[in-house]
Amino acid sequence: MEEHRMRRQDQQRPKQIITVLGGTGQQGGGVVNALLDRGEFAVRVATRNPTGDAARALAARGVELVKADLLEPKGVGAALEGAYGAFVVTNFWDPQVGLREGELATAAVKAARAAGVEHLIWSTLPDADKLTNGRLKVIHFTGKARVDAAVEAAGFARHTFVQAPFYFQSFLGALAPQALPHGGRGWTVPMDPGARVIHAGDVTDVGRAVAAAFSARDKLANGSYLAVCGGVYSWIDFVSTLNGLGHDFQVVQVRPAGYDGFPLGREIRETFQYFEACTYFGPDREKNIAAANALVPGGYTRFADWARLNMKRLAHGGALGCAGDRGVPGIGRPSLNVSAGTEQHFGGLHRRRRGVPGLR
Ligand SMILES: NC(=O)c1ccc[n+]([C@@H]2O[C@H](COP(=O)([O-])OP(=O)(O)OC[C@H]3O[C@@H](n4cnc5c(N)ncnc54)[C@H](OP(=O)(O)O)[C@@H]3O)[C@@H](O)[C@H]2O)c1
Repeated sequence: MEEHRMRRQDQQRPKQIITVLGGTGQQGGGVVNALLDRGEFAVRVATRNPTGDAARALAARGVELVKADLLEPKGVGAALEGAYGAFVVTNFWDPQVGLREGELATAAVKAARAAGVEHLIWSTLPDADKLTNGRLKVIHFTGKARVDAAVEAAGFARHTFVQAPFYFQSFLGALAPQALPHGGRGWTVPMDPGARVIHAGDVTDVGRAVAAAFSARDKLANGSYLAVCGGVYSWIDFVSTLNGLGHDFQVVQVRPAGYDGFPLGREIRETFQYFEACTYFGPDREKNIAAANALVPGGYTRFADWARLNMKRLAHGGALGCAGDRGVPGIGRPSLNVSAGTEQHFGGLHRRRRGVPGLR
C-alpha cells in the first residue's frame, strides 16, 4: 500500500529536465529520441532556429524548444536554467564554430554549471595531437579533447564523457562514394585500406548510451568515458560489406600529400593518418568501449546490419541517394588530386588474392 502510494507520488512529480544542445542534429537528435523512448526525463532542445522544420518536428513530440546560439552565451544559459542534466555537442564543421570549438564548448559547460545542472555529458574525442606527440593535429578531435579538463574542473555533481564513433551515416553524405580517377566509384584514402582501425557506428546509437548514462545516475562511475562502437573496421571491410550488397565500389590508397591542396584536406588527411597510428578511439579504447557496452546490453548497430537497411543497391542502379560527385563538402574532390604512380586499387575480389592485411 505504502509502496503504491509512493509510486503514485513519483508519477505525479514533474519530470526532471535534460537540455540537449545540438538536439536538431544527428548526435543530439539520437539523444532526444532515446530520452523520449525511456520516458524518464522531460526533454528541452536548444536551437538557433526554433521555428525550423527540425525543431517543429521535435515540438510535435513534446520537446520544449529554447532559442540559443553558442555564439551568444546568455541564451545558452537560459536554455540550461532549471535542467537536471545537459548533453553538449559542438559542431566543428559549422563555419562559425570551427577553430572556436573549444572556446564555445567551454563557455557552454560553464553556463551549465552556473545554471545548476547536476549531470553534464560532453561529446568528446581523443586528443590526437597528444597521442601522436604533436605529429598530427586533427583539430576536430584535439579541440574537443581539450574541453575535458574544463568539464572535470567545473565541479558538476556528475559528469560523463561520450565519444561518438566514425558515423556510418558519413557514407550517405560527406564521405559518399565518388567517381575514381581511373574509373569506377568508391574512395581514395591516405592510409592502408586494410588497417582495421576505424571504430565506427550508427550515430543515433550515441543517444542510447547518453540516455542510459543519465538514467544510471550514481551506478555509473563519475567521469566515465563511453566509446560508442558498432565495430572496428578497415576500408576494405566497408567496401567488402557494400559489395556483398550488390555494389561495385573500390578503395584506392593515395599519397597523403594529395589531400592537402583542398580546403580542410589536411584535417581529413591527418584524421585518417591518426586512425592508422592510434586507432579511432586511441589507446583507452577497450575500457571505454566496455563502459558504453555495459550501459546498453543489446550492444550497438553493426555495419552490415546498418548497410543492409540504408545502403542497399537499388535495382535501377541509383544506389544510396548520395552526394556522389559533389565530393566531400569543404574538401572538394580529393580523389582527383592523386598521382597515378602511387595508387593502389582494392576492389571486388582482387584484393583477396592479393592478401591485403585486415581482410578476413
Ligand atoms: N561525422 C563523424 O563521423 C563524427 C564522428 C564523431 C564526432 N563527430 C563530431 O560531431 C559534431 C557534429 O555533430 P552532429 O553530427 O550531431 O552535427 P549536425 O547533425 O550537423 O548538427 C549540428 C547541430 O549543432 C547545432 N549547432 C551548430 N552550430 C550551433 C551554434 N552556433 N549554436 C547552437 N547550436 C549550434 C545545430 O543546431 P541548430 O541548427 O538547430 O541551431 C545542430 O543541432 C562535429 O563536431 C564532429 O566533429 C563527427
